[in-house]
Amino acid sequence: MSDAAAARRDPGFCRFHTEHTIVVDWSAEAGWSDWSVEPYGSIVLDPAAMVLHYGQSVFEGLKAFRQPDGSAALFRPADHARRLGRSASRLAMPEMPVDLFLEACAELVALDDDWIPDEPGQALYLRPLMIATEAQVGLRDSRRYRCVFLAYPVDPCFGRDFAPISVETSGESVRAVRGGMGEAKCSGNYAASLMVRREALARGFNEVLWLDGLERRWVEELSGMNVFFVWRDGDGPDGVRLTTPPCQGTIVRGITRDCVLTLARDLGIRVAEEPTTIDGVMAGARSGRLVEMFACGTAAVVVPVGRVADAGASAVFGDGREGPVTARLRNAFIEIQHGIRPDTHGWLRTVRNDLASVHGSTDRQLRSWADA
Ligand code: COI
Repeated sequence: MSDAAAARRDPGFCRFHTEHTIVVDWSAEAGWSDWSVEPYGSIVLDPAAMVLHYGQSVFEGLKAFRQPDGSAALFRPADHARRLGRSASRLAMPEMPVDLFLEACAELVALDDDWIPDEPGQALYLRPLMIATEAQVGLRDSRRYRCVFLAYPVDPCFGRDFAPISVETSGESVRAVRGGMGEAKCSGNYAASLMVRREALARGFNEVLWLDGLERRWVEELSGMNVFFVWRDGDGPDGVRLTTPPCQGTIVRGITRDCVLTLARDLGIRVAEEPTTIDGVMAGARSGRLVEMFACGTAAVVVPVGRVADAGASAVFGDGREGPVTARLRNAFIEIQHGIRPDTHGWLRTVRNDLASVHGSTDRQLRSWADA
């Protein structure tokens, strides 16, 4: 069995990288280079590279899905390109042109088509990472950057069974304040969550539920996912309302979050981007008015939250199992991603199977690796 076939059978989350990477460089003198294909391998950095000292590092996570006709399609790649641009801009890094980002992603998917798993919920996860590479210890923004696109066959990061996860609030620690870097998909934003997340995991939780940085009572997001609540304020299917914390500069503007809001409206569910306190969540879960909570993100897809703990108290949503609204939204989302349900919002971008053979540079490079 090939490496790709073995990885496709049981990919987990980013346990196996594919064979190729796409590299794009930027310099203050020349701007963006063309993309080039390189075999997966280590990056050599000067120990004074500015990313190591001052943390100029931003990334994206997007997916390509196998389609019923055997082709592959990227999911909302232009939105990921634009978000990378916004993150980069916040860290004084250059914005990559959307077309260059799209070409690089499409090329990588075409080259590593063999690594795309087939099952619903599985995907090829692309991780474009941009770092400052100039060697310079004085504090200023770098004049050189490298963007590397990596690819991994994946299951959803909490597994394909979408079993409910449990979350614990962030206590005294805060991760983001308005005007800070909470909205940027930058490495430092994730580093800020690691210590608290590790402590929550040690107490048996799957994730940290971040509260706002000022009052520590407004619910924000998990370390790498947005959150949603399903409230019951009436009888029957019309009696539920879906809410999610608003984007006010402290949470990542999730593309899955945006899909969930759109799909909920399509399905006739009332939605609101609405601030929610942790006290409201705990009280709602206990009274039965808050019937479901779920987290969503590119890596996680849509995963139920069964239990939340705050300041030593704990509350369960419904019976702790996945609720019908969460399941309905996730199924609709996955069916669109896999081309099973009509893509009425134009979220899929098909990758031509022959793309990898179209570009001379790719052909040349593939031949030179084969010869090496
Ligand atoms: C993603 O969902 O793509 C992310 O970047 C989150 C990360 C924590 C895996």
